[in-house]
Amino acid sequence: MAHKIQVLCTIFISFATLFFTTTKATTFNVMSYGAKPDRKTDSTPAFLKAWSAACSLVQTSTTMYVPPGNFTIKPAVFKGPCGSRINVVIDGTLVAPDNYWDLGNSGYWLLFVLVNKLSIYGGTLDAKGTEFWKCRLRGGNCPAGARSLTFNYVNDGLISGLTSLNSQLMHIVINSCNNVRVQNVKTIAPALSPNTDGIHVQISTGVTIYNSNIQTGDDCISIGPGTRNLWMEQVKCGPGHGVSIGSLARDLNEDGVMNVTLINSEFRGSDNGVRIKSWARPSTAFVTNINFRNLIMKNVANPIIIDQNYCPNNQGCPRQASGVKINQVLYQNIQGTSSTPFAVLFYCSPSNPCRGIIMEDIKITYLNSQAKSFCNNMGGTTRGVYLPERCL
Ligand SMILES: *[C@@H]1O[C@H](CO)[C@@H](O)[C@H](O)[C@H]1NC(C)=O
Ligand SMILES: *[C@@H]1O[C@H](CO)[C@@H](O)[C@H](O)[C@H]1NC(C)=O
Repeated sequence: MAHKIQVLCTIFISFATLFFTTTKATTFNVMSYGAKPDRKTDSTPAFLKAWSAACSLVQTSTTMYVPPGNFTIKPAVFKGPCGSRINVVIDGTLVAPDNYWDLGNSGYWLLFVLVNKLSIYGGTLDAKGTEFWKCRLRGGNCPAGARSLTFNYVNDGLISGLTSLNSQLMHIVINSCNNVRVQNVKTIAPALSPNTDGIHVQISTGVTIYNSNIQTGDDCISIGPGTRNLWMEQVKCGPGHGVSIGSLARDLNEDGVMNVTLINSEFRGSDNGVRIKSWARPSTAFVTNINFRNLIMKNVANPIIIDQNYCPNNQGCPRQASGVKINQVLYQNIQGTSSTPFAVLFYCSPSNPCRGIIMEDIKITYLNSQAKSFCNNMGGTTRGVYLPERCL
């Protein structure tokens, strides 16, 4: 009897072992591959080895782990497809090399490409962009620079709890992706750092940006051609250039932007609040079904703006008219203060006037009195309270 029980137990334990080894998440610690949190060692090869090990495993899920400490990392490509869901859990800081030429002309610092089911949890990325911006601002001989974190062709992705400091160019880029969620993220760079957009989205469907705090030198969130079904909620922006759809119409044949919502968000001291921007030249691009709701503006230079006149140096804009069709844009419950007399600016295209603009419950003041609106080539309706002078 005892023997029989023992046999049964052994069989049960073997099954249990088999079960747990095939379903548990296996962890690959970068330190086991030679990474050192000493700020001196180049930990890039170790990170790439840990990634390959985690990525090649065929399991339910696998984890690449970065413990606390400062790891120096050069430009790195983390390539899929992987064998299973992959988590990158970062308790430490990834630091760029001191010499900004080391990120140099690569375009990317950390690039994740062709991965399905990728989650990045935690982590600080310190690109140390200060010397690079100085080089650019004095017009020296500088490298093109690198974006800090890029997802290219990632489906079902998550970036949660990440902090990005002083990126050379954009902090986070979501390009050619489906279903990516960015949440509890912080990006920090000074107001005068050039081209340091917080989060850039393009050619992507189903991106969500939630509960994130963006202080930077360029757009807080920039939305490029081919963006569909973008949801942004609880975003704090400023300093920065606001949430911007565009610039569109850079190219003649260009995809549009459709179904974008920004809700329950706050702008503090930013150059713009919500902006739609296009070059003043022909293009197939369009902007439709855009919803800006429940927004607070605190001392924002241009709280609400559509600018279809963009043409720096007056080059390539033969008739100074944008081909981008803007249609169905809702501004609802937007309150606060403007730091300039004009709280609402619509410079729409003379060849493609803005259509279906709805302004509902807009209360924005300038120096405790009524702010102004400027509206060119636009059509739509005003509902509810509208405190700046009306133009619809
Ligand atoms: C990592 O470096 C930062 C400065 O970039 C420093 O504040 C922090 O204390 C360092 N962390 C560790 C664990 O060495
Ligand atoms: C618009 O986008 C949201 C996500 O932001 C999505 O839930 C909704 O289904 C989309 N609507 C259409 C008509 O595609």
